[in-house]
Amino acid sequence: LAEVTTLLLSRIRDIPDHPEPGVMFKDITPLLADPVAFTALTDALADLVVRHGATKIVGLEARGFILGAPVAVRSGVGFVPVRKAGKLPGATLGQAYDLEYGSAEIEVHAEDLSRDDRVMVIDDVLATGGTAEASVQLIRRAGAEIAGVSVLMELGFLGGRARLEPALEGAPLEALLRV
Ligand code: PRP
Ligand code: MG
Repeated sequence: LAEVTTLLLSRIRDIPDHPEPGVMFKDITPLLADPVAFTALTDALADLVVRHGATKIVGLEARGFILGAPVAVRSGVGFVPVRKAGKLPGATLGQAYDLEYGSAEIEVHAEDLSRDDRVMVIDDVLATGGTAEASVQLIRRAGAEIAGVSVLMELGFLGGRARLEPALEGAPLEALLRV
């Protein structure tokens, strides 16, 4: 596991001042382009899906789609996209949440989640935790249970874990890397 951690870390590129001055962007595209690293990441996340007994994966647009879809295939469960508002064509449930400036809204096709589902939320980064918190609220409102939230990396200094944990009600927050 230590080797996997080192491999994953080595394939994440720091881009200073993106998307705005003072922000260090964590770019995962080198990891995605490396089949050994991308497979190791997929396997590590699929292990968490199995360990926590999830029956569905919810991936958060956009980078959570890239990570979550192969994990769903690898672990033999369905994939449900949570999208930015206005993209899904069917009957949706929506959840608004606050950003540093302004607000955002995410949506899901509620019919793709049932009372019998235990959902693992997958995303690349936990920053302030706002996106993950909103997704957990959305999944609960759709009637499903939360198996956990799993991310490639947690940006510890932004306090996302403290924000998300009350919404998780004891379900695990798994971060493969903490930076
Ligand atoms: C990024 C990242 C997470 C989210 C984390 O997504 O991929 O989804 O921010 O931030 P938070 O914990 O403060 O909510 P973003 O919507 O910026 O871009 P994307 O569409 O490329 O995933
Ligand atoms: Mg995102």
